[in-house]
Amino acid sequence: MPIILGIESSCDETSAAISIDGKIHSNIIANQTIHEKFGGVVPELASRAHQQNIIPAVDQAIREAKIHKNEIAAVAFTRGPGLLGSLLVGTSFAKAFALARNIPLIEVNHMQAHILAHFIEDPVPAFPFLCLTVSGGHTQLVLVNGYFEMELLGYTLDDAAGEAFDKTAKILGLPYPGGPLIDRYAQQGNPQAFTFPEPQIPGLNFSFSGLKTAILYFVQQKEREVPGFLQTHLGDICASVQERIVSILLNKLKRAAREVGVQDVAIAGGVSANSGLRNALIALGEQQGWRVFIPRFEYCTDNAAMIAIAGHYKYLARDFVGQDVAPLARYNV
Ligand code: KG4
Ligand code: ZN
Repeated sequence: MPIILGIESSCDETSAAISIDGKIHSNIIANQTIHEKFGGVVPELASRAHQQNIIPAVDQAIREAKIHKNEIAAVAFTRGPGLLGSLLVGTSFAKAFALARNIPLIEVNHMQAHILAHFIEDPVPAFPFLCLTVSGGHTQLVLVNGYFEMELLGYTLDDAAGEAFDKTAKILGLPYPGGPLIDRYAQQGNPQAFTFPEPQIPGLNFSFSGLKTAILYFVQQKEREVPGFLQTHLGDICASVQERIVSILLNKLKRAAREVGVQDVAIAGGVSANSGLRNALIALGEQQGWRVFIPRFEYCTDNAAMIAIAGHYKYLARDFVGQDVAPLARYNV
């Protein structure tokens, strides 16, 4: 009945979680709001905030799980990918904790952990399954053959899907991070109001930078023709942009599922919180005869529960690392 402490600090969320025998008993997330006024995450500020938040987050995770820290069997932490200064805080904390308590240390790949969030609660997908991982830094199509046997089938050649949302929001004058706001405004708009281009990228790779440029030119031109257009049509613009981002993602997902011939299809990462994507995937799944897996909202965006779960399965496999482990800003699945 191993108890695992999970630590996540790859970007701007400091998170600590406790799993007991593969079930989550606490998942504390300290958001950093300081970045809002800069329109994006400022790495130096993120590291400092992690430094302040990490001990209170771990203390609270232990308290809420109603365990004593002596009972923790191992500590799992995000090794990468992410911002190096942010990763260093979680890595250093985890190393010190493991050393002080003389327990094993487990390194976790953040992108694998987003996928393994599907094993937090039933029903769980069956191997092999396909996962579309969409976050602020990544857009990946992954064939998941086992807990840590993952094959990258496609990825973005430029911006990530989350960046496409966030950069569009910036063009529309919305604060950072704009993804959730576009989602909200889109619910009041008509997704067919405007048509944005779908990039013609061969194979299973993605591209979002052309879409961003098309949106910028569209908004500039409309504003010239009809001043105030953006404000009066915000819902329709958001709904139309979201419609296009979702169709780019799902067209590739459909193609990948056909190519590898799987029935279980999942989404993961921050953008999987998007209601347009969730609804469109459910509809597509029904049409294609897939079993569709969508994480609960709190397990879509960055969290330590997914790190603790990944740590749990590595603990069972006795997959530990030494004190010489270093964080990796780039780290493939
Ligand atoms: O996985 P995540 O929390 O952090 C990274 O590992 O990058 O993903 C954050 C991304 C941001 O780009 C944010 O705008 C996007 O997920 N996001 C959303 C929604 N919620 C979060 N995008 C669209 N709709 C949402 N509801
Ligand atoms: Zn993430």
